Amino acid sequence: MSRTILTAVAWPYANGPRHIGHVAGFGVPSDVFSRYHRMAGNKVLMVSGTDEHGTPIQVQADREGVTARELADRYNRIIAEDLQGLGLTYDLFTRTTTRNHYEVVQKLFLALHKNGYVVERSQLSAIDAKTGRGLPDRYVEGTCPNCGYDGARGDQCDNCGRQLDPQDLINPRSTIDGEPPTFVESAQFYLELPAFAELLASWLKERTDWRPNVLKYSANLIDEMRPRAISRDLDWGVPIPLEGWKDRNDKRLYVWFDAVIGYLSASIEWSRRTGGSWEEFWHGGIAEGFYFMGKDNVVFHSVIWPAILLGASGKPEGSAGEYGELDLPSEVVSSEYLTMEGKKFSSSRSVVIYVRDVLERYGPDAIRYYLCVAGPESSDTDFTWEQFVTRNNTELVAGWGNLVNRTMSLVHKNLGSIPPAGDLTDDDRAALTASSAAFETVGHLLGRNQVKAAINEAMRIVGEANKYLSDQAPWKLKEDPERRASVLHVALQLIADAKTLLTPFLPHSSQQVWEMLGGKGEWSGQPELREVDDLDGGPSYPVLMGDYAAAAARWESQPITPGIPIGEPVPLFTKLDPSVIEEELARLDPGE
Ligand code: MF3
Ligand code: ZN
Repeated sequence: MSRTILTAVAWPYANGPRHIGHVAGFGVPSDVFSRYHRMAGNKVLMVSGTDEHGTPIQVQADREGVTARELADRYNRIIAEDLQGLGLTYDLFTRTTTRNHYEVVQKLFLALHKNGYVVERSQLSAIDAKTGRGLPDRYVEGTCPNCGYDGARGDQCDNCGRQLDPQDLINPRSTIDGEPPTFVESAQFYLELPAFAELLASWLKERTDWRPNVLKYSANLIDEMRPRAISRDLDWGVPIPLEGWKDRNDKRLYVWFDAVIGYLSASIEWSRRTGGSWEEFWHGGIAEGFYFMGKDNVVFHSVIWPAILLGASGKPEGSAGEYGELDLPSEVVSSEYLTMEGKKFSSSRSVVIYVRDVLERYGPDAIRYYLCVAGPESSDTDFTWEQFVTRNNTELVAGWGNLVNRTMSLVHKNLGSIPPAGDLTDDDRAALTASSAAFETVGHLLGRNQVKAAINEAMRIVGEANKYLSDQAPWKLKEDPERRASVLHVALQLIADAKTLLTPFLPHSSQQVWEMLGGKGEWSGQPELREVDDLDGGPSYPVLMGDYAAAAARWESQPITPGIPIGEPVPLFTKLDPSVIEEELARLDPGE
């Protein structure tokens, strides 16, 4: 039975170009997951966009001397281009400054408000002592009152996971200028999280198949649910859609409240643009929703977003709003952090590799390969250039690339086309059986988001195929052209299978192998950058979309066709000189 899958990918802030830490944990893995499901015949909707409101954008805009909108425009485009360069197949990658998004956010707010889950309260809020501007939670740092960790932020403590308000912090200080903030009374809207505690606790209790890191973290959160402010003293964001509030220029909805709603608003925008049904992905529990993010985003996806969905659906009490009863996530898939040569990524200290820069210097599949085999899937993981070069050279170039290259060369020189199978030996059959059995094992791992184990298993099959070729040594079979043809037939079939198994991870080179074997058209789809008009008026903007269902790739062993001409192979991957390591390290820390 075909499945319906919503792939919901965390929305990158449009406050700068993205570095590979951002795409390692969830950008590439969510694409691998979606590509696999499409190949397996399932219906997939993959959505995301740039997160453009709130203080992260405002602060950076002030720094660059432009308006928040100008900043968001600039980085929205850069980020969309970078994600396209990596081949991430969003059905829609949009942004949070569209009119459609504003409307969906405001309607969900109103549904929550009507059901009594959003209420107005007056509370202390942090103000930057110098500018008088509201200081968002994440920009207040101090000591956690719960565990004593000194780097706790005003929204949560990354050490113990507790949700915080800025005034809970001991010795609070602004991360912008290090000064202690002033706290003033101010009216805000609060999301009544305690009202959902019971429903959320029993829902989370059933999620036994989630990654342990997410479960552990989420369980802690449920124990201490309290109302969370979902508005801020700020002029950049979605206006509060209530009389007496909507025209105020100093109050906006909190960026996290609007950003998580992006999953729904992007689905609706996708529907309006393509005629597809967003309801299929949100109503009646038909679809499975997988949410991909870094670990600092877990609370927003395992507690706050589900609470918004419940409250707007009229649960535990009330009535469903404009969008009906909405499904909760099926799984919150969180990754850990990627560090860079032993240090935390940091743009300010130039411990950073921008997606754009690596794409200029290396192929997208070389980057995707490294992030799949060595990404921060279940523990913090260090990116090193030494590893990048080594794995590229030994595994991609000397392993997979060489298998394709030497087999294709032999076929091209000796036969010119795919030979028929002839009589198969036990060894031949064993090799073919192992290769077709891998669709089951690799597929299972991919369905569980075990990308690392999945690519290792696919590469093990490549290793087996290489061994088959060396053992059978068709280059020694000049005197026995019939046997030589059979061996080359089997080797080509193993290659055809391996390229299918590797397609979710390495879509660009798999496309090339498909063409080498006579395939025409698109094997695995690629995202297009389209310039679109805002559906409800307003400036046009770039989106990523694609007609991925039209691509030929299927998750199965497909027999090769004898007689198809085989040309002179072109190398799939580029061998990197070890000097690359030194060059990249020098780029990383020019000052040291
Ligand atoms: N912009 C946030 C970050 O980079 C992620 C937002 S995810 C969403 O940490 F759920 F809010 F969309
Ligand atoms: Zn703590």
